[in-house]
Amino acid sequence: MQETRFIPKAYTSSIENGSFTWSSPSNIALVKYWGKKEHQIPENPSVSFTLDNCKTTTTLSFSKKESSDDFSFDVFLDGDKKDDFKLKIEAFFKRIEAYLPFLRDYYFKIETSNTFPHSSGIASSASGMSALALCLMSIEEELDVDHFDDYFFQKASFLARLGSGSACRSLEGDLVVWGKHDEIDGSSDLFGVKYPFEVHQNFKNYQDTILLVDKGEKQVSSTVGHNLMYGHPFAQERFKQAHENLSSLISVFKEGDLDTFIEIVESEALTLHAMMMTSMPYFILMKPNTLEIINKIWSFRKKTGSKVCFTLDAGANVHVLYPKNESKQVCGFIKNELVAYCQNGHYICDRIGFGAKQLTIEN
Ligand code: PMV
Repeated sequence: MQETRFIPKAYTSSIENGSFTWSSPSNIALVKYWGKKEHQIPENPSVSFTLDNCKTTTTLSFSKKESSDDFSFDVFLDGDKKDDFKLKIEAFFKRIEAYLPFLRDYYFKIETSNTFPHSSGIASSASGMSALALCLMSIEEELDVDHFDDYFFQKASFLARLGSGSACRSLEGDLVVWGKHDEIDGSSDLFGVKYPFEVHQNFKNYQDTILLVDKGEKQVSSTVGHNLMYGHPFAQERFKQAHENLSSLISVFKEGDLDTFIEIVESEALTLHAMMMTSMPYFILMKPNTLEIINKIWSFRKKTGSKVCFTLDAGANVHVLYPKNESKQVCGFIKNELVAYCQNGHYICDRIGFGAKQLTIEN
């Protein structure tokens, strides 16, 4: 599949000004994306749960400019002007302008807010970039472009990917695959697609409690981390393993096999961090409390037979995953035994969600 299918033919309408608002969720990968080729093409396929409560809401207001020389925009987070976000947005606009040729024609006001605290160690790039991509697609829709089925969400995911790779998995729910996989029809390196096969009741309404172990800025950005997979001694084996894990998950999702799910998801999390620890330069993003929590989860599981498990992002926070029917028992365990390892006792209760929504803001 070619990128060129997202280059629009001539627009047949014009629009002077307006505004669109989208709310887009974060996601948590079960099979991790770590390592990319040029143009944000992933080295391996990944799959994620779309979250429900951790969201970014973005309002994009636009008005036609006199000249189309430069990009012109301002960014606001929770009402405060954020000039330090401008470089990232400018780089994003440059990357996507071939696909959205109207970008230099308008002044944009980007107003954004997150449901989770900015300094929580939860990356806002997936929800933020997908919300912005959806707002831009709403503008393109007004300009009337000839398009194929699924164009709107496919192209929004394609654009979000160019902002931040994993953002392309943040538009739809509840399970999303990104990256070409032989057994998954329609999967693509260019955009995320809804997981197309049967999913057992066990995985419906899955819960994710995010334990905020360290709310500081990451010492190593994911861009640097992805780049360290070039020439990494274990890279090729790792990429192969991701394909195999995704293959195994197909029957796990179908059968509702929670034991194999736990094995794959925890191994993926630890492999992600093992890649960081074995790159050159090497680094560690887990903290002592990350390990304390992992050990507590393992002993709780051994003691009670619970199907609770953990996964990790590129940071120290722990995502505690469990089936809905264990909520009471696992929440009790989290409060009694895990909250003590969270910074200021902070954690966020989330669960699988169903994707981004367009909002109408009343004036
Ligand atoms: O989207 P990026 O470039 O921030 O990379 C995210 C990578 C992980 O969160 C660690 C894994 C994943 O698949 O989301």
